[in-house]
Amino acid sequence: MRLLLRYGRAGRFIQGKSIVKHQDLGTLSGSVLLFGGPYSNLQAFEALMSAARGLGVPASRMICTGDVVAYCGDASATSEAVKQAGVPLVAGNCEKQLAAGALDCGCGFDAGTTCDLLSAGWYSNANRHVTQGQREWMAGAADIISFTQSGKRYAVIHGGLTDIARFIWSTSKSEVFEEEWAAVEAAIGPVDGIVAGHSGIPFTKDCAKGCWINAGVIGMPPHDGGQETRFAVLDQGQVSVRKLPYDVAGAIQAMEAAGLTQGYHTALRSGYWPSEDVLPAELRRAALASG
Ligand SMILES: [Fe+2]
Repeated sequence: MRLLLRYGRAGRFIQGKSIVKHQDLGTLSGSVLLFGGPYSNLQAFEALMSAARGLGVPASRMICTGDVVAYCGDASATSEAVKQAGVPLVAGNCEKQLAAGALDCGCGFDAGTTCDLLSAGWYSNANRHVTQGQREWMAGAADIISFTQSGKRYAVIHGGLTDIARFIWSTSKSEVFEEEWAAVEAAIGPVDGIVAGHSGIPFTKDCAKGCWINAGVIGMPPHDGGQETRFAVLDQGQVSVRKLPYDVAGAIQAMEAAGLTQGYHTALRSGYWPSEDVLPAELRRAALASG
C-alpha cells in the first residue's frame, strides 16, 4: 500500500508522487443515486437521467464512479452530457488517461489478451473525439468523493485507491477489501461504507468496517445475458441495485456508425461481454451455469 500524506485543507493529498484529490459533498438528504461506467453510451446516460428524475433525485445527489468514456459510440457527446448535467465525478482510469493524452486505457490488460486488443480500438476512437475542454474537466475530477447520509459517512472511489484500475469482484479475498479500506481511511479518515466501480458487475459485500458497494455500470450489461444495465440507490443506509432499460438499438447503431464493431456492440444485445479474460473463473458463464 502506498503511503498517503495530508497535503492541506483543500482536500488534496499526496499518494506516492501523485496528488490524490478529495471532494466532500457534505450531508446529502434523500436518496443518492450511484452509478459507474457510462462508457460512451449516450443512450444509457439519457435513460439514467430520466430514471433519476422519476426518483426525484437531482444531479447534486448523483455520483459517478468514473469511466464516462469507453466501449460505446458517443465518447464526446456522453462526456459533454455528464459534464453539463453537473453530476459529481470520480476520475476513472479512462478519465486519467484521456486527460494525460495517453495512448491506452490504463487498465493494465496483459498484452495480447482479448481485452487488450479490443481496448486499442475503443480507446483510440475516444481519444480522437474527446475535446480539450472535456479532457480538462476529466483532469479536474476527484480521486475520492465523500458524503454523509443518515449519519453514515461514505467514500466513493473508482477501482481501488491503491490502484485506480484494480479489478475488485464479489469473490475477491477479504484482504483486498481490507487493503483498500485502510488506504481510504488513511486518506480521508473513518468511513462506514465504500462505493466503487471499474469492474462492471454490481455487488455488495459486508466487510469488517462496513459495506463495500459496487454500483455497477450503466454502459454495458453485467455479463448476465440481459440487456439492462445497472445503477444503485442508497436510501437511509440501505442500498438497492436497480436495472436500467435504455435504447439499446440506438446505442448499437452509434457504435456501428463509429466503426466500433469489434464485439462490444453485440454485447449490448446479447448481454454477454466479448471476452472473459478479465473475469475470475467463478464469475465466468461456465461456472455460473453449473453453479
Ligand atoms: Fe475503469
